[in-house]
Amino acid sequence: MGDTFLKYLKNFDSPTDIVDEKFRSFTERLTAYLDFVKREDRDEVSKPIEVGRRLRDLGAPMESYKIMKADANYYKNRGNIEKFWHQMYYAGAFANLGYPTRSIEVEAIISCKELRREKNFPVFLPLFLNNYAGILHIYREDYGAANEVYREAILAIEDVNPRDFESKVGREYLWAHKLICNNYIDSLLVTERTEKDDEELERIMDIAEKRLGETESEYARALTLLNRAEMRARNGRIEAADKVLTEVFQKASERGLVEPSYYRIKALILADKGDDEGSVGFMIRALEEAGHYGNTLAETLTMRDSLSVYNVLVNKEGVRDRYRFFKEKGLFDYLMKMLRIKDWYLGSEHSENVRKTALGIAKALSLKNVQMRLIRTSAFLHDIGKCAIPWYSLNKISPLDDLDWEILWAHPTEGGRILRKLGLYEEAGIVENHHERRDGSGYPRGIKNISLETEIVAVSDAYNAAITPNRKYRVPKLPEEVLYEIKKGAKGAFSPKIIEGLEKYIQGESY
Ligand SMILES: [Fe+2]
Ligand SMILES: [Fe+2]
Repeated sequence: MGDTFLKYLKNFDSPTDIVDEKFRSFTERLTAYLDFVKREDRDEVSKPIEVGRRLRDLGAPMESYKIMKADANYYKNRGNIEKFWHQMYYAGAFANLGYPTRSIEVEAIISCKELRREKNFPVFLPLFLNNYAGILHIYREDYGAANEVYREAILAIEDVNPRDFESKVGREYLWAHKLICNNYIDSLLVTERTEKDDEELERIMDIAEKRLGETESEYARALTLLNRAEMRARNGRIEAADKVLTEVFQKASERGLVEPSYYRIKALILADKGDDEGSVGFMIRALEEAGHYGNTLAETLTMRDSLSVYNVLVNKEGVRDRYRFFKEKGLFDYLMKMLRIKDWYLGSEHSENVRKTALGIAKALSLKNVQMRLIRTSAFLHDIGKCAIPWYSLNKISPLDDLDWEILWAHPTEGGRILRKLGLYEEAGIVENHHERRDGSGYPRGIKNISLETEIVAVSDAYNAAITPNRKYRVPKLPEEVLYEIKKGAKGAFSPKIIEGLEKYIQGESY
């Protein structure tokens, strides 16, 4: 089973190869494979990790997670606890490359607790701690907590016999150590630091650099050097940072190993030097380099840091209309491009349509200019959080399981985070709640108390989704039909005032 499926997956290089009819058969085969791996009475599957890696590269890392978890359970049920932890480690690692939800975070916490008590397999503890710290660091942005867990991971790794490490997890002990150090450094760099923290940072950087010695891989060294450059840039030692960065770039480009963070750090340096245009140019470049929708983690990381640089520029220039500034600087073009690549069904037209409808309703309700501006920006960017969601999870056509829903339901929260990074705080609140409903029937929180502006964006979204063909509505409905349904079926999901506004807008549109 595994071999045939793996062979099939090798037909594709990237998600762009899996279109039209191929997408349907891809989904069917993937579902069948996953169902098989979940079966109790099966034999061992061959090369599940390789299948997982392949799927990860094709933009379906959460399916890789599910496969590894099912395989872990297979071994647990047969009393092979070591293999259970081994497969669970890969499950967690794949989830971290996609989108680790709350339930995956809880699973990571429980695993770390169990492993601390486990005497037989100390080798897995640092790896699990690193996975958990990664969630805190990258996805929750709780750097304080992440740093504690990384520190613990580094201590735990010291207790491990390198030989065990190699034989049990199939990767080099030193390389894993280096990776954990680098993650820790990255997390420390974004934290507000004291002098003591800086000492710690230098110490970890030295460990990271010295540890690898002879066996050092080019890639690992480049990561440490990038960290050094970033540390200098953040401490205001701009020339020194630039020098290190140039060195990394020369080496990396010779080998075709340029990381998006190179462009990001360059942008930081130029922003500091006052070269705003140059800074924006490198930031767009960083976003583009990270924009392979197979790799959700790279996209998330670059987006996290790049957007803050835009915010720095806005604050420096004292920009009043952030929406216009970001638009003029090309940021929205980039974000919309990414959204279109990722979400096949809605894409960028949807954002534009929701913006138009929402403004139409606002006009029909004679709202003030301030409210109009707020609605314009949040309606246009309402689904931007989908950029943080793996491609396959967004486009899946087979029935969705609990985890799929959990992932999809995260997009409003992720959208809110993106907007906050751009300094759009009020808009962030609207985006976060654009799937909530007045009667509490919405998601992700099921809250009832939502603002007028939010409701306008929400109804415009629901309306446009229904009149456009997509995953849910294969055959689009007529505007009147949708209005009738919203009126009839709403039962308090939207307020009468909003529905009236939508009605006026639709009538006005048909003239
Ligand atoms: Fe949405
Ligand atoms: Fe939407």
